[in-house]
Amino acid sequence: MNPLKYIVNTELKDVADAVVHISDVALLRGYGIFDFFRLQDKAPLYIDQHIDRFYRSAQLLRLYPSIKKEELKQLIYEMLSVNKMPGSGIRMVLTGGSSHNGFDPGAPQLLVTQEVLHFAPPTVYENGTGLMLLEHQRELSEIKSINYLSAIYHWPSLSTYNASDFLYKHQGKILEATRSNIFFVMDDESIYTPAKDILSGINRRAIINMALNNFEVNEGSVLLAMLPRIKEAFITGTTKKILPVVRIDDHVLGDGSPGKITRKLMEDYEKVLTLRKEEEGPAW
Ligand SMILES: Cc1ncc(COP(=O)(O)O)c(C=O)c1O
Repeated sequence: MNPLKYIVNTELKDVADAVVHISDVALLRGYGIFDFFRLQDKAPLYIDQHIDRFYRSAQLLRLYPSIKKEELKQLIYEMLSVNKMPGSGIRMVLTGGSSHNGFDPGAPQLLVTQEVLHFAPPTVYENGTGLMLLEHQRELSEIKSINYLSAIYHWPSLSTYNASDFLYKHQGKILEATRSNIFFVMDDESIYTPAKDILSGINRRAIINMALNNFEVNEGSVLLAMLPRIKEAFITGTTKKILPVVRIDDHVLGDGSPGKITRKLMEDYEKVLTLRKEEEGPAW
């Protein structure tokens, strides 16, 4: 097997060369962005949408990559065909760059890495998971920044509610989970998903479009006060697809198992992803 290669700025390099300088403001101040997509078998799912969001996050932080989107995409295909890792995750990172004074950003450094990816075990998809509420709103939430300080800091307290992840709430509103978006099915079978002060998930958008074929989907504020009306919930993201949620803190949703609408959407989304895989085609 070939040794693994990563992208460093404009070239494929050995893994050991994928490093940033100690004076990089990503390291010193947490100033940087990333994006993450995955291969379904050999097909890079939603690659264009992830690259678009990566450049949008960069622009919002006034970080300008030294290569254009098309060049990055080409380099990624090169990396995929060298590494040959079906089902893996691809992480694009853009740092603030080396700083002359430890504060002002410099020339952004682009690193693209590839990693083995595992979904939660099938039993979690069958039985659902629990989330724990955490009062938090991600700073500059529309940007996929590298800052996950709050989630990582609080992670050990998840055991309080035997939860697998945090669900952020802020000033009475439910926002998103640490690395996924959230959807709720209400007692009248309408679907709600928060729209503001969140990361606009690529899977979130695809799932809204899919769900609209059969259901009413409302994008807007979801208040904590609505919790008693919630019958089903699920989180969505690149590393989750659709993962049912059956508990929030100690509040059990519905009968405590994944509801019928969630299960239908899970099934439909598998089909959407299979179609998507065929559309994208194998990368090598
Ligand atoms: C904070 C946050 N929200 C939502 C998502 C889900 O986004 P996507 O569906 O594009 O993976 C992520 C993904 O990592 C995330 O970090």
